[in-house]
Amino acid sequence: MKNLTVLGSTGSIGCSTLEVAANQNSAFRVVGLAAGRNITLLAEQAERFRPEILALEREQDMEAFRRACSYAPRQIVWGPEGAAEVAAYERNEVVVSAITGINGLKPTLAAVSAGFRVALANKESMVVGGFLLQEAAARSGAEIIPVDSEHSAVFQCLAKENQQDIRRVILTASGGPFFRLSPEEMRFKSPEEALNHPRWKMGKKVTIDSATMMNKGLELIEARWLFNLSRDKLGILIHPQSIVHSLVEMRDGSMLAQLSQTDMRIPIQYALTYPERSESGLPALDLSRIRNLEFYDVDLDQFPLVRLAYQALEREQAFSVALNAANELAVEAYLEKQINFAQIHEVVADALASQKYTDVRTLDDIFAVDREVRERTRQQLQQRK
Ligand SMILES: NC(=O)c1ccc[n+]([C@@H]2O[C@H](COP(=O)([O-])OP(=O)(O)OC[C@H]3O[C@@H](n4cnc5c(N)ncnc54)[C@H](OP(=O)(O)O)[C@@H]3O)[C@@H](O)[C@H]2O)c1
Repeated sequence: MKNLTVLGSTGSIGCSTLEVAANQNSAFRVVGLAAGRNITLLAEQAERFRPEILALEREQDMEAFRRACSYAPRQIVWGPEGAAEVAAYERNEVVVSAITGINGLKPTLAAVSAGFRVALANKESMVVGGFLLQEAAARSGAEIIPVDSEHSAVFQCLAKENQQDIRRVILTASGGPFFRLSPEEMRFKSPEEALNHPRWKMGKKVTIDSATMMNKGLELIEARWLFNLSRDKLGILIHPQSIVHSLVEMRDGSMLAQLSQTDMRIPIQYALTYPERSESGLPALDLSRIRNLEFYDVDLDQFPLVRLAYQALEREQAFSVALNAANELAVEAYLEKQINFAQIHEVVADALASQKYTDVRTLDDIFAVDREVRERTRQQLQQRK
């Protein structure tokens, strides 16, 4: 039995992880949970899984949690330090990192530094701090196993391959709800329409990122750090069926792919059980019913945020931090209806255009650039009101 901790337990990935763990016949014991503000769901999870340590985002929610939960964990902590404490809890063996955005960075780094297996869903932490996470993993011996379905596919394809044999890694993208629309048709699409993803049910931030395709841009940078690949070895294809989760082209001309149902429980389970596989209870893929697997190049004029992500990938680390920070704020502003869909790109483009070269080598450097970009972006969003 392995001790499992879930960071972001009340989210889409967090809930699926707990479901996977519960279906694995006592292979996992939940020892830690960290969540944000959904106290009702966190209390239900705590009653059911009885963790030893638990983190809330805010101290003021402690009373509400105690009222809602008859089970008392040995330790309750809070705030960013609390989530990091749960991540580094000494009895952890596997930590699923599924807090959204840069808020996931410190807890993810804490789990990696402690040497645990880290099943990584929080792509933003790789985007802004991939170099730090990989350095920490090299020091501590932690395994970082991707949960993102595309990176899980690449990881599975590369399991027995040599790095020098890789010609190109091609991440697939569903294209999101607006794949067939022109930029003019997309411009005023509402958050409700953007949240209506054709293939995946996910948290709001990643769903909007899928509609703009910034999600794929972030995933390119994530792949760069996860698999140690340069810009020229990374590509994207739109694959509306979301059956082929990514492809790897090898130097002998072979192309490797991983195919499965569109269900995050599969890559989550793989990250937990790797290198073993176990029954998922999910139906097999029936390709004779699917018939068509289509692939299209990405039109960078239709999805200009992908172009910005490629630019950030080619430049110094500060540009990836800026890309992520401006995008997080722009998505929030769009969800609050302060800006329209097309302006998400404008906000991120402005942030990158005004970003100067800054040396980013430490966690403090990352947060310094993140703070500056957020400050500039907030001012810019104010001016748009
Ligand atoms: N969903 C997917 O299918 C999918 C696929 C691939 C990768 N990912 C990545 O996985 C991560 C999670 O995505 P998701 O869809 O599961 O998001 P989500 O449904 O929005 O869940 C986010 C989780 O993070 C918690 N959280 C947010 N801010 C926090 C903070 N400051 N401190 C502590 N906890 C905090 C939330 O808590 P409360 O809800 O309690 O506030 C929730 O548990 C993202 O980085 C996303 O890009 C998701």
